[in-house]
Order: sequence, then C-alpha cells, then structure tokens
Amino acid sequence: MDKAKESAAGSAVATGLRGVVAASSSIGDVNGEKGELIYQGLNIHDLATKSTFEEVVFLLWNGRLPNRAELDDLKKNLASSYEIPEWVRGPIEYFPKKAEPMDTLRTAVSALAFFDEEARDLSREASIRVATRLTARFPTIVAAIDRARNGKAPIKPNPNLNIATNFLYMLKGELPNEFDAHVMDVALILQADHELNASTFTARVVAGTLADMYSAVTAALGALSGPLHGGANTAVMKMLLEIGSIDRVESYIKDALAKKKKIMGWGHAVYRTDDPRATHLRQLSKEMGERKGDTKWYDMTAKVEEVMKREKGLLPNVDAYSASTYYMMGIPLDLYTPIFAISRISGWTAHILEQYANNKLIRPRAEYVGPRNVPYVPIDER
Ligand SMILES: CC(C)(COP(=O)(O)OP(=O)(O)OC[C@H]1O[C@@H](n2cnc3c(N)ncnc32)[C@H](O)[C@@H]1OP(=O)(O)O)[C@@H](O)C(=O)NCCC(=O)NCCS
Repeated sequence: MDKAKESAAGSAVATGLRGVVAASSSIGDVNGEKGELIYQGLNIHDLATKSTFEEVVFLLWNGRLPNRAELDDLKKNLASSYEIPEWVRGPIEYFPKKAEPMDTLRTAVSALAFFDEEARDLSREASIRVATRLTARFPTIVAAIDRARNGKAPIKPNPNLNIATNFLYMLKGELPNEFDAHVMDVALILQADHELNASTFTARVVAGTLADMYSAVTAALGALSGPLHGGANTAVMKMLLEIGSIDRVESYIKDALAKKKKIMGWGHAVYRTDDPRATHLRQLSKEMGERKGDTKWYDMTAKVEEVMKREKGLLPNVDAYSASTYYMMGIPLDLYTPIFAISRISGWTAHILEQYANNKLIRPRAEYVGPRNVPYVPIDER
C-alpha cells in the first residue's frame, strides 16, 4: 500500500465502510447501541407522535422546526409544485407495464431535470426550491406510475391536501380515511432520514462532484432500490405471503436460517438494540389490523420477531412492520420502496444541501489486492 493509502486507511480495510466516519453532518444521528434516532437534535419518538411530515421536511432542511407562518409557506410551495410536467407524466404511460416502479420513478425523476431551469443553480436558495419541487412531485409520480400500469388515468393532485393524504388520494382516486392518512404521515416521518445510509451516502458522493440535485437524487434512487436497503419492505411482505399462516412461521424461519438465508426486515448495520422506527410501525401495524378487523399479518410479523430474536438475536428494522401496515392499507407490494423514497427525498435533499454548503469531493482509496508486474502478452500469444 502506498503511503497516502496507509495514512488514510490504516492497516485494515473496513469492509463495507462499517464504522468509518465519512462526513460531518447536523441532519440526523443514529445511536445504534441505545437505539436512538434524532433529526436535527429532535428525538424521532417526539416527531413521530407530535409532528407532521411537512414540519419534518422543514426541520431537515433548516435545522429547526418551523413556526406557523414558515410551515404555511412551505406547504403552499409544496402544493403549488404537486403537478408534474406533461412531458414527464406522458411517457410514464408508455413505460412497460411490468417495469419495477422504482425504475420508472428513477427514470421520471431524472427526466424532471429537463424541465427545471434552476437544476444547475447550486446556490442554497435555488437548491431549496429544487428540493421543494422534488419532494412535492415524488408522490404524484408514484401514484401516476401505479395508475398508468393499471390502465387508469392519473388523478390530479389536490393542493389542499398534505403530502401523505394527497398520495393516497392520487393512488386510489378517493380520499383516504383519517387513520390511513395519519399512518402514512407517520411512516413518512419515520423514514425521512437515517444518517449516512447507502442511498444518502450515494447522494452525497454525487453532490460532492458538484453535479446537480437531480443527478444526486437519481443515483440515490438506484441505491435505495436494492433488496438490502429500501427493497427489504417488499421482500418482507412477499415472505409473509409465502409463509401463509402463523403456524408455519417457526418452521419457515428456522429452515431459512439453517440454509443461511437472510430474513428481510431483520438486522441492521448500525442498531444493536431496538430500531426506534420499528417501535412505532409495530404499534401502527397492530392498530391497522385491529381497525380493519384482520390482525393476521401483524400477528405473523410478531411471530417472526419472536423466532428471530430467539434463534439469531436479531431485531426487526424499519421494514419489518411497514410491510404489514401498507398491505392492510391495500397498497401494492412493489410500491413500498417508492413510498420509502417519497419520505427519504427529504433526507437526501437535506444532505445534498449540506454537501453543497461545505463541499469536498468524496474520493476514498482502495486497497489493491490484485497482482503486480504482470507481463503483457501480445494478443496472438494468449
Ligand atoms: C441490514 C443488513 C445488511 C446489515 O448487515 P450487516 O451489519 O452487514 O451484518 P451482517 O450481514 O454482517 O450480519 C451479521 C450476522 O448476522 C446475520 N444476519 C444479519 N442480518 C440477518 C438477517 N436479516 N437474517 C439472517 N441473518 C442475518 C448474518 O448472516 C451474519 O451472520 P454470521 O456472522 O453468522 O455470518 C443485514 O442485517 C440484512 O441483510 N438484513 C436484511 C435486509 C434488510 O432488512 N435491510 C433493511 C435494512 S434497514
């Protein structure tokens, strides 16, 4: 290893960058030992029980909760951007009906850049406006994707509704009941930021080259789509459906563990105790089941939790109980990760703003483990 690498990396490589501090940030912090999550100093438990997603968006971007006038202003700006340009909405109808919604979302978000004259203005003022447009438009795009693939016309966003309610309204074509809208709002709060997770780190790496916000967010969407990150919530529901009934949970999980399979929705790269987001989603999933008169999926998830804790000492993460919660709301399985994105766009954009404000190109080193001094053999002699 050369001298620069030795001093940068020490002697050991941190596989997967575990434990490596790669940025200073005041946006969010995860204390894996205590199971604590804070956004700009505020505890997630307070935010999940007392706040709204729009307040959290303001908090992440500005470092403090808004007063009433500031919140009204943000809501007005978001609502005035809910609609997506026809040039983005139109093509969604022609994308393959079988396309993964995350792929369609990624493509549509990338295309939004063409219609934003401020896309390449990286000043804080312009970037906040771009972030507002992105946050406002994610739900409209996701709802339009789902309707288009089902041969349905998109529902025009209603500027009088908040992001969570509007999303469910555009998805189903009818106003959601108050509880469902509340659950969606809390789910958006819980997933808004999570420090340097894979997609946020991706966004910061792209922003660190001083590329525009759309590029950073498009890349983050790609990172979020993987099953080890945002894709886990869909995988949880697929697993529950495959198991089918609570009496099969124990044998299914034990069998999967014996085959060294990973159980999606369990384990975490940072938390070594309860994931505080799972605490709220567990309760919401239970209440959702009780209200809808069917706690089967909640009960099954709770049983998986019991078996995983006993067999592996692993606890549920944010995805474990969001799966049954969304399922009981009648949301298609492959929209769970796009919903994660509808929430996480707030955290991504907060991190991009922070990166732009104090930028340094992110460029780590690799420990080269390949051969050296390999003789070059001419093509005809190989
Ligand atoms: C999130 C995740 C990638 C974190 O992984 P990590 O910190 O790198 O931990 P590792 O993958 O090194 O796992 C450590 C041990 O626990 C096991 N483990 C971790 N998560 C597991 C899971 N979900 N199911 C079964 N075993 C698991 C690993 O197999 C490993 O066991 P070993 O030491 O016997 O090899 C991992 O827990 C996982 O893949 N979970 C499922 C996907 C998921 O829910 N992702 C959403 C995260 S919010």
